[in-house]
Amino acid sequence: MAGEMAQKFDAELALLYVIRDTQIPDGVQKMADVELFHETRLTAMQMVGKQIVDECETQVRSLGADKVKSEVRPGDPAGVILHYADEADIDLIVMGSRGLGNLEGMLMGSVSRKVTNLSKVACLTIK
Ligand SMILES: Nc1ncnc2c1ncn2[C@@H]1O[C@H](COP(=O)(O)OP(=O)(O)OP(=O)(O)O)[C@@H](O)[C@H]1O
Ligand SMILES: [Mg+2]
Repeated sequence: MAGEMAQKFDAELALLYVIRDTQIPDGVQKMADVELFHETRLTAMQMVGKQIVDECETQVRSLGADKVKSEVRPGDPAGVILHYADEADIDLIVMGSRGLGNLEGMLMGSVSRKVTNLSKVACLTIK
């Protein structure tokens, strides 16, 4: 949807994937040498995230959007999305209403809900 809009309005499109922060509790850090796993996970997720945004970029370019840039950043997804929107001067945030898991019940995921509630700019959630 974002790709279609970018193409129609000749707009710039920024694709962002956030690697969810998994903080290891202090107590666990003292019990086991988990730092290495944390680093390894982050490195692996950087590669996965890059593939995800590259795939998205291919898809939106095939729709005709041509001013496209991609980012992979670690952190709390909603917080990073909001911060990036500010930093990159984004004027419309496009998200799915839910993630790709198959959870049922809630109408909107916690990320899309938090971003929509706290964003200073317009948000579009796609069903
Ligand atoms: N890590 C992420 N990086 C970039 N965008 C994300 C990320 N997580 C969620 N989003 C955006 O938020 C939308 C809704 O996902 P969200 O995570 O809120 O729902 P969920 O996964 O179904 O529920 P929850 O995460 O609360 O269990 C996604 O379609 C996507 O646009
Ligand atoms: Mg989610």
